[in-house]
Amino acid sequence: MKPKVVVYRKVYDEVLERLAEACEVVYRPQPREADGSALYEALGEAQGLLGSGLRIDEALLERSPQLRAVANFSAGYENLDLEALQRRGVTATNTPGVLNDTVADCVMALMLAAGRRVSELDRAMRAGQWTTSIDEEWFGVDVHHRTLGIIGMGEIGQAVAKRARLGFDMRIVYHNRSRNETAEQRYEAQWLSLEALLEQSDYVCMLTPLTPQTERMIGAAELACMKPTGIFLNASRGRTVDEAALIEALRERRILAAGLDVFEQEPLPADSPLLQLDNVVCVPHIGSATHETRLAMQLLSVRNLLDALRGETPPNRLV
Ligand code: DGY
Repeated sequence: MKPKVVVYRKVYDEVLERLAEACEVVYRPQPREADGSALYEALGEAQGLLGSGLRIDEALLERSPQLRAVANFSAGYENLDLEALQRRGVTATNTPGVLNDTVADCVMALMLAAGRRVSELDRAMRAGQWTTSIDEEWFGVDVHHRTLGIIGMGEIGQAVAKRARLGFDMRIVYHNRSRNETAEQRYEAQWLSLEALLEQSDYVCMLTPLTPQTERMIGAAELACMKPTGIFLNASRGRTVDEAALIEALRERRILAAGLDVFEQEPLPADSPLLQLDNVVCVPHIGSATHETRLAMQLLSVRNLLDALRGETPPNRLV
């Protein structure tokens, strides 16, 4: 008998077809912000679960006694209670690697947009404010030859460092639990303490995974270390930063600007003060959101799931 797999997010047809070759597929796509209750009845007999972002913890596992494998199609896996999964012998996987270049492209887009004020000036033009030749009120700051501080030098950090060093002649500094020799050799990246990185960087880019150690790693004290001309970028998870402190620093112009892909609460509430600030560029958690990359992530999650259901070790096993 084919194992039953529940797919709880919208996926490409190819993904469903690939799964259907080996599994009985129950397709229950629901938006990220749904709480999962509409899914619960399907979980009772599920042996596999595929999607991203759903909180998979003891309570959900209680309802899925047959579950053997959970495949996240995302690099981040803060939605998974790995201890609970391990206790129950459920294999869990994510999809690192295939999204590195796409997320790095997005970071460069945020860096350029925040430095050169792309969204703000686009809005000004649409509002008919370009009536004479521009003066310094609309000038931005350079990206090339400036210092980029990367907090979290993993594979995505390296892809950003590559673009920034080789494409934009930036100086790369980084903060990470352990030294990254590849980044040091290839991109002349220099390890710094967090404080020194914040003090020296023109652009500070958060790329750490969200863990108990990195939650609110950047707060008022850290933002106060940044240059007043510094630009803060976040493409990791919103909760790595104290968002209220960031808003305050931006509002009082204690830092120059921010480029944000991730937020404490997603979707970002429409009344968020971030949306009122001209010196903020926001995008709705699109780091990996291109068709090619999302398909690659989903297909990798299928491979992970099928391997786990066959009793083999999947390439991206977490537990
Ligand atoms: C990831 O894969 O973790 C990206 O943030 C998209 O969710």
